[in-house]
Amino acid sequence: MIVLGIDTSCDDTSVAVVSQDRGVLSSVVNSQVSLHHPYGGVVPELASREHIRNIVPVAEEALAKAEIRMTDLDGIAVTVGPGLVGSLLVGLHYARGLAWAGGLPMVGVNHLEGHILSILLEEDAPSFPFTVLTVSGGHTSLYFVEGPGVYRTLGQTRDDAAGEAFDKVAKILGLGYPGGPVIERLAGSGSRDRIDFPRAMLGPESLEFSFSGLKTAVALFVDRWKTAPSEMADIRIEDIAASFQEAVCDVLASKLFKAAEQTGALSVVAAGGVACNGALRERLRREGSTRRIQTFWPRPAYCTDNAAMIAMAGMVRLATGERADLSTDVRSRFPVDDLPAMGSAEGIQANP
Ligand code: KG4
Ligand code: ZN
Repeated sequence: MIVLGIDTSCDDTSVAVVSQDRGVLSSVVNSQVSLHHPYGGVVPELASREHIRNIVPVAEEALAKAEIRMTDLDGIAVTVGPGLVGSLLVGLHYARGLAWAGGLPMVGVNHLEGHILSILLEEDAPSFPFTVLTVSGGHTSLYFVEGPGVYRTLGQTRDDAAGEAFDKVAKILGLGYPGGPVIERLAGSGSRDRIDFPRAMLGPESLEFSFSGLKTAVALFVDRWKTAPSEMADIRIEDIAASFQEAVCDVLASKLFKAAEQTGALSVVAAGGVACNGALRERLRREGSTRRIQTFWPRPAYCTDNAAMIAMAGMVRLATGERADLSTDVRSRFPVDDLPAMGSAEGIQANP
């Protein structure tokens, strides 16, 4: 089976071709980062207009790179939520047009299910059940994954997502958008225990997150740092970045392993844009080996928003006969807990 995946849930126009036998044949992502950069965040209307401009060339590039024609496809998988409604509609309408014109089956995919199953794009993937932390600019959630399509939300953020905290702290420090990569780079030459920023654990057994207090603590600290530089002359921006990153990693790692403990899962996965972070990966690797829990994360290109993960999730759904009709609509909010269960994901795990 060969599936075309489409994701336009936020600010990236992504199209990918994934084959059941040969893995990811192409994955094209057209980033809008430079468009939104001056605003310090995504401007929804600009994002939708940019998707309209980009969707056809991105899809053509994905098919060309995969050396696949429309007639070789067996189905289309498109993100229908959660996300920005105007952006989602561009992908869905394009997918509908393709499905209708090509007489192809189409399936609507939950973007978070894409992140949850993105690890199946890698050869080194866990067997079910496992616990996943999806951590991006819009989400910070823990799920117990019993099998394909069977997800239980264990906890999520009460306020900001972890990626949002990276982006806001970068803005406070005047580093631009997106904040994660630049903070990680600066943190590499900073001292992570220089400043003791707060870690919101919200109770010993809690699997919920809160990052707004940390963001405020950094903002207050930076205010003092800027207005009374002589008192803090030995503190560098690198130290602030490293101490902030350490506080986020502490919370994410401790909650992910707590989730594994509570569910009895022997494997944990970190996915989503923030899971690109090297310090977080290192932390999970170390703690996993101490606790004898296997740790997994997709390569960076499958952590940040991409359509290969959507094609992957859609392929399993298409294989079990699921179909979306042409009247399918998008959903800005779309919890994964009540998705229909799927059949076996065996055999479509490996990436060549
Ligand atoms: O998954 P993603 O591409 O988009 C969604 O938000 O769905 O994630 C983007 C987020 C941004 O907030 C960005 O700052 C963060 O992921 N990010 C990182 C890193 N790379 C991207 N955060 C920390 N360290 C990184 N290396
Ligand atoms: Zn995402």
